[in-house]
Amino acid sequence: MKKIAKISEKINSFNSKIYVPGDKSLSIRWILMASQAIGVSIAYNLLKSEDVLCALSAIKKLGINYKINKENCKIYGKGLNGFNFKNNTTIYAGNSGTLARLIFGILVKSKNQIILKGDKSLSKRDFSRVIEPMRMFGQNIKSKNKKLPVKIKGTSYPRPINYNETKGSAQVKSCILLAAMKTPGNTKIKSIPSRDHTEKLFKYLKLPIKISKRKNHDFINYKGTKNYMGFNYIIPGDISSSSFFIVLTLLSKNSKILIKNVNVNKSRTGIIDILKIMNAKITLKNKKEYKGENIADIFVKTSSKLKSINCPKNMNSRSIDEFLLIFLVCAKANGISKFNNVGELRNKETDRLKFANNFLNKIGIKTEMTKNSFKIYGNPNLKLKKTYNIKNFDKDHRACMLSFIAALTLGGKWIIHDTDSINTSFPNFITLLKNLGAKIN
Ligand code: S3P
Repeated sequence: MKKIAKISEKINSFNSKIYVPGDKSLSIRWILMASQAIGVSIAYNLLKSEDVLCALSAIKKLGINYKINKENCKIYGKGLNGFNFKNNTTIYAGNSGTLARLIFGILVKSKNQIILKGDKSLSKRDFSRVIEPMRMFGQNIKSKNKKLPVKIKGTSYPRPINYNETKGSAQVKSCILLAAMKTPGNTKIKSIPSRDHTEKLFKYLKLPIKISKRKNHDFINYKGTKNYMGFNYIIPGDISSSSFFIVLTLLSKNSKILIKNVNVNKSRTGIIDILKIMNAKITLKNKKEYKGENIADIFVKTSSKLKSINCPKNMNSRSIDEFLLIFLVCAKANGISKFNNVGELRNKETDRLKFANNFLNKIGIKTEMTKNSFKIYGNPNLKLKKTYNIKNFDKDHRACMLSFIAALTLGGKWIIHDTDSINTSFPNFITLLKNLGAKIN
């Protein structure tokens, strides 16, 4: 893929039906869970992006075979204690925080040492959030500043833990749950609600998980060490990828889109709820359930009367990956939008609060940013004419794709750098945009 894209025209009206690729969170979870199942597992519509391919390479390094072709991916699991690898095997997690953090969990009992590495952006991110609970299980971890690269060696006698997860991080929760699978006894997690795909997979596999939901917390109990058989999964479309097309449609003239077969798990649909409060025309059609997950087609229409939002805090984790897009909609909405407790955005592939602040200021939108909050002064008449150069975003795939949506809906001339970053999560993003009529050079 070319590394620079140039856009100098808004997209024309469109009325289309699209499919987005498979969900990234589910694809990575399926790979890690299938690698520890007994026997073969098959996934259809697995996302074939760099993060997911890194997950496949990782299980291969752990001694688990897989085959991937156009139709499906097969993983030949050997059970909970089936990994087999040499001491000091290196695993490269690329750009994927999810893979890197969940891997700690599956290595809780590894006899040999793994050296876990990541790309430049992942090596700047915080790993204390998983190092702390994993040391409680008894895992041996060596790291400088709690960042990658790290050396991880398991323990033969992991101890179940009681853990209070305070960030609303599904990665931390899932890492602990994966470790709990191999740990005798009851592991207990009190957590701020976050995406619950791991819990749903456990339930589907009839693993001994108990969850009780209170107002602001989930209490999760897992009793290790039950094995499970290989399982098949048809991965639904990714709501985070769909969101770029939701916002493209909302902000384009006389347009409609139907995004087919998307995972609309409630812990992921914050963006839909937020945009609906802002007067966006979005409806879910053809709703169904699949292995505990909710799936629907998302129908979106141009929405010109957008109003600002004082974003409820309980939306934060439910829309954690969509804030850049939500901020863009706020820029075009009438009134001042407010977001509190959004400091976690600083810990993503790039500091997304800082990026959003610079980005919105660049296009003439007034903002106020603190460590943990963000205010956007919307301008429904925003029309751009200048040239905008988008670079230095730590190759954050979502920052890059956001720039395409802004360029195609707001006008002006845009030069977007490091477009290869998009391969992390959504390799056919530009093709889909071009199919809708976008002119991208
Ligand atoms: C993810 C959880 C979120 C999200 C990430 C994927 C997951 O991270 O930002 O893109 O699949 O568990 P946190 O758990 O750090 O919030």
